[in-house]
Amino acid sequence: MSVRSIEARVNPVYLTAKTAVCLMVQAGIPEADKIVHALALENNALLQNMTDAETILGNALVVEAKYRTMCRLIEASGYQTCVDLPCGYTPKAIYMVEHNRNFVGLDLPIVVGEAGPIIRQLAGSAENVSFHGVDATNYTSLKKALQGCVGPLCISTEGMMMYFSDDEVDNVIANIQCLLREHGGCWITPDPEYALQFCGTFRAVFGEESLAKLMATKDEAQGQSAVAALGNAFIIEPTDIQNSQARAETLLAKHSLKVEKVNLGEHMPELSVYKQFAPEQIVRFKEAMHHCHYWVITLDEAKEIQTDRPREEQPFELQYTVKKGILHLALHGRLDTISAPKLLLAWEEANADGSIEGVRIDCAQLEYISSAGIRLLLEMQENCSRHIVFSGASVKVKEILQQKGFGDVI
Ligand SMILES: C[S@@+](CC[C@H](N)C(=O)[O-])C[C@H]1O[C@@H](n2cnc3c(N)ncnc32)[C@H](O)[C@@H]1O
Repeated sequence: MSVRSIEARVNPVYLTAKTAVCLMVQAGIPEADKIVHALALENNALLQNMTDAETILGNALVVEAKYRTMCRLIEASGYQTCVDLPCGYTPKAIYMVEHNRNFVGLDLPIVVGEAGPIIRQLAGSAENVSFHGVDATNYTSLKKALQGCVGPLCISTEGMMMYFSDDEVDNVIANIQCLLREHGGCWITPDPEYALQFCGTFRAVFGEESLAKLMATKDEAQGQSAVAALGNAFIIEPTDIQNSQARAETLLAKHSLKVEKVNLGEHMPELSVYKQFAPEQIVRFKEAMHHCHYWVITLDEAKEIQTDRPREEQPFELQYTVKKGILHLALHGRLDTISAPKLLLAWEEANADGSIEGVRIDCAQLEYISSAGIRLLLEMQENCSRHIVFSGASVKVKEILQQKGFGDVI
């Protein structure tokens, strides 16, 4: 099994980024065309489940509005270095080079391994462009990726926060807060209001037919990411805007962060995709975008910044033995997107002849499990005739395992 296929199995969410760059081509963003060509994605296979051409066009409108407005806001922040977390396959690096900015692209290793060389070349192999594999929930990976960066950062987070559980999103926010403390700067994200932007856009351009098209879009994102909810404590719910907004702001305040909301309608540049819509659709769309905001988040200096939280994680390690058809595993550190491939390899090796009936996992040294780790444990469970038994888990790990339906946590 290749490293790529292992990485793809533990975290399929990277496919959503390929879909996004294909939608940029549909919108008419020329640099995206070159990236899609280099990735050999011209057949649009990733868009095939979006039931009709209008659904694709509605998605292209959302994606272009986000991409171009984010580029403009990052530039307007005045910070010299854009840290794009997650960078996906977008041409943002090319834009930043053209506008004399440094660009640091961070994403899962599977994405940067593929996107990095292609985009660096398209950006003229500029010295001020780099790509690093990280897991946003893993602070050590972020710190390492940014260790050479000097000066304040403009961290942009576009299309990622909705894929996390409450626990993961809390972790990611804590990590970004630490990066802002270390480097200074700001964090810009459209993600809290992503559902409002989708609903507003689809309602404005498709009227009564918008609901079915939105559902097709949601099914596609859930199918590609293997994430069930597409929401958490950081995401505003269109059916309960007031309460969910307060919840997201409370979450930021807990991390000593404050938000300034930038009106999308006021900052959105002209879009190439407009030529595929009727003038009255564009008028309604522009009006609707005045009800959406992108969030510019900074440290709240008025609050005492938490410093007690140790953010450096233990490196992941595992040991295993097989006795009478039972795999005995001891896990250390964090089981997340970066470390899960190691566990998958060990599992495939131990179960090469399909003789493993059950697994016992010693979790005494296990610090944390992210969704990628859970996904893998569920896959292992499906291939065993007995329940996986966990022992020695911390309160936190126990809670995560039980929430995901693992009953034998002793
Ligand atoms: C919808 S795409 C958005 C990509 C890009 N920002 C864009 O606008 O096209 C979601 C991205 O989140 C990345 N991602 C998901 N979980 C992540 C994690 N734990 N750490 C880093 N990146 C992650 C995926 O690999 C994917 O590139």
